[in-house]
Amino acid sequence: MSAPPALSQPDRRMDALVANGEFPITAKDFDVISGIMMAQTGISLPIAKANLVYSRVAKRLRQLGLRDFKEYCALVTSADGAAECQEMIASLTTNVTRFFREPHHFEHLKTKILPDLVAAARTGGRIRLWSAACSSGQEPYSMALTLLSVMPDAAKYDVKILATDIDPNMLKAGAEGIYDEAALEPVPASLRERWFRALNDGTGRRQAVDEMRKLVSFKKLNLIGSWPIRNKFHAVFCRNVAIYFENDTQEMIWSRFFPLLEDQAALYIGHSERVSGLAEALLRSDGITIYRPNGAKGARA
Ligand SMILES: C[S@@+](CC[C@H](N)C(=O)[O-])C[C@H]1O[C@@H](n2cnc3c(N)ncnc32)[C@H](O)[C@@H]1O
Repeated sequence: MSAPPALSQPDRRMDALVANGEFPITAKDFDVISGIMMAQTGISLPIAKANLVYSRVAKRLRQLGLRDFKEYCALVTSADGAAECQEMIASLTTNVTRFFREPHHFEHLKTKILPDLVAAARTGGRIRLWSAACSSGQEPYSMALTLLSVMPDAAKYDVKILATDIDPNMLKAGAEGIYDEAALEPVPASLRERWFRALNDGTGRRQAVDEMRKLVSFKKLNLIGSWPIRNKFHAVFCRNVAIYFENDTQEMIWSRFFPLLEDQAALYIGHSERVSGLAEALLRSDGITIYRPNGAKGARA
């Protein structure tokens, strides 16, 4: 006798509460929020992240005077909800960063990538670097500081650092370039004194000097969207962001960097990330979480 057809799960499951707190959040609400995050940022939020989603978004409900996540989901999916949807995305992206995070990348940049470039830039060449998930600017300024430590007069030459992120709040913070003492702690004292001016407002904060800020352009760019980029780069830092994406999205992103890398360029990725899939044929390892484009000079597509 054949088995009876499986009964479909009662719809009740979607009404189940997935986190505890003052604002009810059901599995259905969670699906709406995680669906928006996947579609708009590539960030994967499994149900195990329900408490994190709750804690980050609940304050928006409080500020807006809403009763539950059902009302909030109705708002962010409504025609008038685009601005709140951006707020939600900003609250759910993780922006943790610090100066000279993963120091071996900056050592590699300084010793393996920059020497030839600096010499070429002094005779009319150019230097192009990209921080592709720059958060509040510590990463692109660490790149700038590394360059300035070997080329203090970089501002006189054709040198540009592109700093991109999906989160406009982070881009604004990066462009301002103001950091407190704790944030600046990993910056060697000599570089801190030379390239950050004290604000003298009693807070101990410092601001990146104009000469350094002018080297860095902060622009919005979604790694899973279109990349309006024409030039190639000598170094790309794309660190601690792909970890939030599903595997196929990660592979797609690594592959997309390849045509944007100069022949002798380096791609730096986060400490728990790994180039995988089709991109493995395009990029070869040159140290821990450091990759160089494969293929002899001139032999690439
Ligand atoms: C954990 S921070 C990493 C910052 C820096 N790269 C580092 O390693 O210190 C991740 C950053 O990726 C950004 N991000 C998340 N999804 C993105 C996407 N789809 N496109 C561009 N940036 C994204 C977030 O806004 C956040 O600032």
